[in-house]
Amino acid sequence: MSTVTLTLENAIAVITVNNPPINATSHAVRSGIVDALDQIDANDDIRAAILICDGKTFIAGADVSEFGQPPKAPILPDVIKRIEAATKPVITAIHGHALGGGLEVALGCHYRIADSTAKLGLPEVNLGLIPGAGGTVRLPRLIPVSEAISMITSGKPVSATKANEIGLLDAITHGALGDAARDFAKTILNRETPASLLARNPIDAPSSAQWDDITAATKKKARGQVAPLAAISAIRNGIEHGADAGLAFERKKFIELRDSDQSKALRHIFFAERSVAKLSELKGVEANPIREVGVIGGGIMGAGIATASLLAGFDVTIIERDETACDNGRATVEKHLSGSLKRGLITQDRFDALMASLSASIDYAALSDADLVVEAVFEDMAVKHDVFGKLSLHCKADAVLASNTSYLDINEIAARCVNPRRVIGLHFFSPAHIMKLLEVVRTDKADTKSLATAFEFARALGKIAVPCGVCDGFIGNRIMSAYRKHCEYMLEDGALPHQIDAAMAEFGFPMGLFAMQDMAGLEISWATRKRLAPFRDPSERYVALGDYLCEMGRFGKKNGLGWYRYDEHGKAHADPEVDALVIAESAKKGIIRRDFTSTEIMDVILGAMRSEGDKILAEGIANSADAIDVVMVNGYGFPRHKGGPMFMTGNED
Ligand code: NAI
Repeated sequence: MSTVTLTLENAIAVITVNNPPINATSHAVRSGIVDALDQIDANDDIRAAILICDGKTFIAGADVSEFGQPPKAPILPDVIKRIEAATKPVITAIHGHALGGGLEVALGCHYRIADSTAKLGLPEVNLGLIPGAGGTVRLPRLIPVSEAISMITSGKPVSATKANEIGLLDAITHGALGDAARDFAKTILNRETPASLLARNPIDAPSSAQWDDITAATKKKARGQVAPLAAISAIRNGIEHGADAGLAFERKKFIELRDSDQSKALRHIFFAERSVAKLSELKGVEANPIREVGVIGGGIMGAGIATASLLAGFDVTIIERDETACDNGRATVEKHLSGSLKRGLITQDRFDALMASLSASIDYAALSDADLVVEAVFEDMAVKHDVFGKLSLHCKADAVLASNTSYLDINEIAARCVNPRRVIGLHFFSPAHIMKLLEVVRTDKADTKSLATAFEFARALGKIAVPCGVCDGFIGNRIMSAYRKHCEYMLEDGALPHQIDAAMAEFGFPMGLFAMQDMAGLEISWATRKRLAPFRDPSERYVALGDYLCEMGRFGKKNGLGWYRYDEHGKAHADPEVDALVIAESAKKGIIRRDFTSTEIMDVILGAMRSEGDKILAEGIANSADAIDVVMVNGYGFPRHKGGPMFMTGNED
């Protein structure tokens, strides 16, 4: 079947796009649509046309294989203008996703109808771009300007229901889309064709003062990203200087952004996220089917993992130490799900069904049918051995047994199991039902079937699964430990905690390292340091400032004092007492303090990340530099628009 087909049904022409998997706006699609329109215009029997897509979705974006190639005519903006200029009204019928160029094509049509499950959006800002085919000019001429701004600057798609409410759609259908489009076409045959969007005026153009507010609010949210602000200027330009000037301005900005470092970085991370879990050795390996999931430990992580597993459609059994702990685990899952219910993410019926799929027990026999088990008990090797011993005894022979350990050696955990081939690591991030990142840790003996099952599980949970090998801290925590050490050195050498945090925030992290430590609580890592003290290399530089804080009872945000002092609203303030402690420590060690600029601070941090990343690569812990970037961006707040530490530092030389 060709990419674009034209069929005639009495007075109605149907243009069908068939370009799997996402009906991207490839050259064949663009030229096919133009050819079809030429035929439609030339045929006097045709009174209306329907533009519809085959397969899973409407046009959901551009053809990535054409990225970086010289544009081949007809380019998308011209195709859309051609649709607009059609002498017969064009109705587009949307199912699945109408994204980016797909929605821009729909905006060129005279009418838009959609299946009730469709989603419509302009996600270009996620790639550091703005819509480049008229989206910033046409959308605010169809829906309220505030809604257009929100869709374009957030990049988030809207549901068909919302799209219908704001006027983006002319109708939604719960039935067969093709039939609905044909029925709709019949209703407009005798109506006057609506003016193209370019010929209309926005209904509610903001005032100059309102634009200032919109720009300021967008700037705040964008945290250093330029595309959302460029989108605002394009929307404003299109409104204030007319459609033609707006289109020219949008195209200029689009091209500028396409060649920018931010867009390159965002595209890098976008593709890295999509390729990181594709392992050649797992090609053709069939995963075990998963229906029942066991979670050992219903604490912070266990309850989060149980929630994520329920939401993915699995039956979940939590195993805890006693009945009270079982109740606590269940209550935490219930709290998470209630949150989803309150935010309208799940219905009451779904909530009830999910809670009914959850059980908690103290008896491992309840796991006899589990297909995959995740252990999230205390971070203690003896406890983990005990748990995996019981799992070996009670679980099916092919059940995959995973540990969520942060730092312990999973090879050692596996070694004591009856079948180490099915033991792997699944390192979630907190809160586990929200954070997208999942490190899938391959133990030395793990077989491909268990790994394939783990990746399938990760996919079902909607996680970004990054494969990694066994080492202290895997990819993310290991890099964090490395740069934390260098931040501590900087404290003794002359920087203050709030200066390091300010440099990180300015760079684009949501918060600095010391504020983050305060939030997590300082006492856990203090306990770990005390436990590991006898094994410490005495020749390695050791910074004791974190220990001093704990000895002073400063455990972080929860008790109002940590690296910062917290006011009654929980706001952090630099504390002169901490500064004095830091300065006194330098003096005690005979270090002459020197000033660090923000750039110097970030150079140290990025250098530490890079050099640990290189070691991780050399040891084969990460498969690629991309994997490291994906971990740091999705689990550690590294600003997405900088692409990750490996991408960024690799680009510097
Ligand atoms: P937690 O202390 O909140 O929960 C541990 C739970 O395990 C408790 O509810 C406890 O009753 C239960 N438990 C202990 N021994 C048990 C046993 N023998 N059988 C059944 N249940 C048992 O700890 P959290 O924070 O959930 O950590 C769990 C694991 O996840 C640790 O290995 C930790 O290193 C790891 N982890 C923690 C992260 C975090 O941010 N908290 C992030 C990633 C991994």
